[in-house]
Amino acid sequence: MVKNLLQRHAVTHEVLLANANELIEMQTRNDSTDPRSGSTFYERYHSLEDIYYWINRTAHDNPNTVKVILVGSSYEKRPLYALKLSFNNRTNKKAMWIDCGIHAREWVSPAFCLWFVHYSLSFYNINQDITHILDNMDVYVLPVLNPDGYKYTWTTNRMWRKNRSISKTTSCIGVDLNRNFDANWCTEGASHNPCTEIYCGMFPESEPESQAVANFLRSHKDTVQLYLSIHSYSQMLLFPYSCTLEEAENHRDLLEMAQEAAQKIRRYYRNTYRYGAGAKTIYLAPGGSDDWAYNLGIKYSFTFELQDRGRYGFLLPPSHISGACNEALIAVKTIALRVVEKT
Ligand code: ARG
Ligand code: ZN
Repeated sequence: MVKNLLQRHAVTHEVLLANANELIEMQTRNDSTDPRSGSTFYERYHSLEDIYYWINRTAHDNPNTVKVILVGSSYEKRPLYALKLSFNNRTNKKAMWIDCGIHAREWVSPAFCLWFVHYSLSFYNINQDITHILDNMDVYVLPVLNPDGYKYTWTTNRMWRKNRSISKTTSCIGVDLNRNFDANWCTEGASHNPCTEIYCGMFPESEPESQAVANFLRSHKDTVQLYLSIHSYSQMLLFPYSCTLEEAENHRDLLEMAQEAAQKIRRYYRNTYRYGAGAKTIYLAPGGSDDWAYNLGIKYSFTFELQDRGRYGFLLPPSHISGACNEALIAVKTIALRVVEKT
């Protein structure tokens, strides 16, 4: 139908993904029982139920280092679990926060949070950089910030972005959680129209998911020094501001850190990541968690857009998970090391 319309109006076009359904099928296939499949648990996408199970098992298997924290619940009353990784009890220890899955369809994002936790637990005392980071920082990891949306992408609509909150005034569902934070809320780059993908909600933190994260960070702002939010796609390392064209006070610092991270990715993985302040690198987008965390006082705040650059987009095949996560991991380590040495 779309092709017909385009043809009729003489719009030149090209099909980039002819087999979208096949790709979706490939992403949800559970080949864990097939011994011939070479992929590990972390190289596959997982349903929400599997991720909840993994959270529990990871805490249970690592009682000295991993704790589960319930930071709140979603609109549909699903728990928002964060893992706290803590490798020692040093006094005045600082922390970093990583959230994944704020946008439902960006599946490689939760996959990264799992990857990061697994890497930390496996390579502490083996890899020098992660050891140094974990010796000096606790890490809070929230694998699925938007569980209702994530669930919905598995059951009903693979391309869903927002949460699933219902409004009294329209039949359109969902708020863009990354437009719902209190940072120039709902100015240019967000919308008051509930039927758009960038609906900002009724008021800042109107959604239980954004409120839960904001409450947690408010009560931990004296320890959390680094905030990271993981998205896909487009391969970018972004930092404040996205809600205004003005420069952040420590812009140079943030720019240098992002640049160093991007250079490492290029050197080790031959992949290109753009970097810069959000508003100038992609678009004005107010109400984001990164800007909000920054204004709260977390001076090192980044949003990562992982692979790819559009070939598969949100439908990144499972075989690309390891590459995408490894290069993002390099960036996280580079930036976290810098934060550790600065403070
Ligand atoms: N693609 C992301 C979004 O639209 C970019 C987030 C950058 N940060 C921000 N505060 N807008 O949400
Ligand atoms: Zn996103």
